[in-house]
Amino acid sequence: MAGKPAEGKPKFERLEQNPLSNIKRVVAVMSGKGGVGKSAITALLANIFTRDGYQVGILDADLTGPSIPRTYGLKGRPEGDEEVIYPLRTAYFGIRVMSMNLFLEKEDEPVIWRGPLLSGAIRQFWTDVVWGELDYLLVDLPPGTGDVPMTVMQSLPLNGIIVVSSPQELALMVVRKAIRMAGIMGAKILGLIENMAYVVCPDCGREIFVFGEPKGKEVAEETGLELLATLPLDPNLARLADEGKIEDYDHTGLEHLPRVLDEKLGLKPRS
Ligand SMILES: Nc1ncnc2c1ncn2[C@@H]1O[C@H](COP(=O)(O)OP(=O)(O)O)[C@@H](O)[C@H]1O
Ligand SMILES: [Mg+2]
Repeated sequence: MAGKPAEGKPKFERLEQNPLSNIKRVVAVMSGKGGVGKSAITALLANIFTRDGYQVGILDADLTGPSIPRTYGLKGRPEGDEEVIYPLRTAYFGIRVMSMNLFLEKEDEPVIWRGPLLSGAIRQFWTDVVWGELDYLLVDLPPGTGDVPMTVMQSLPLNGIIVVSSPQELALMVVRKAIRMAGIMGAKILGLIENMAYVVCPDCGREIFVFGEPKGKEVAEETGLELLATLPLDPNLARLADEGKIEDYDHTGLEHLPRVLDEKLGLKPRS
């Protein structure tokens, strides 16, 4: 990859896009913890937006635990030269993807880096990657609200943030931290998505609250944020994500989000 990694603690700066990119909106997907479905939901959002005719890219900013390529069954190295890198495209929707995983010799190779190097890589994913015309660049952030996601957020000009949580992890504290971080970044919290909120019994159709009663509504009310969606724990989603076939997943309960996000970000909805 071209360019040098950043040294020292990165300052907040608005980085230039690549001259060959025209990214209209950058939306990050954040969570308090790992394993709550942040990457799966980033992918599902990308699928739905693309299905609705938007040009979408996914910047996998979870550098030490990248899972986007696997979810899409994407393999192979991005092409490029000294100056630029080209994202890979997913098989069905043609979503543009850039991930650290695509540069590893082996998929399960660990990435052991410290903050400054991580933010250097993220900047390259922003400035050196030729994203082309994008309506939305979705950023799959590293889990948590600590230093690493903060560093990542500081390197990217975010417009909005979506907070994903499971009922178990949906604590007011997490959401409040997210609000504070968003404030620092000058980004807007677009709302919450409560994931794995219930299981639908395959026999009787009843909803079973595996992780306790969903809390999304309550937390949303207390923080003044919108509950954008409540998604079930669906074995079919887990299987498709595991098999690299997330583009085949249907009925996600996120179909209204392209319109909602456009409105919140002041974009004219697509007809
Ligand atoms: N609603 C869901 N139903 C079933 N499995 C899910 C759901 N959301 C995520 N998963 C699965 O749970 C695991 C963790 O999700 P992932 O998106 O990798 O979490 P995160 O990015 O927050 O660490 C993955 O195997 C994923 O496929
Ligand atoms: Mg993830």
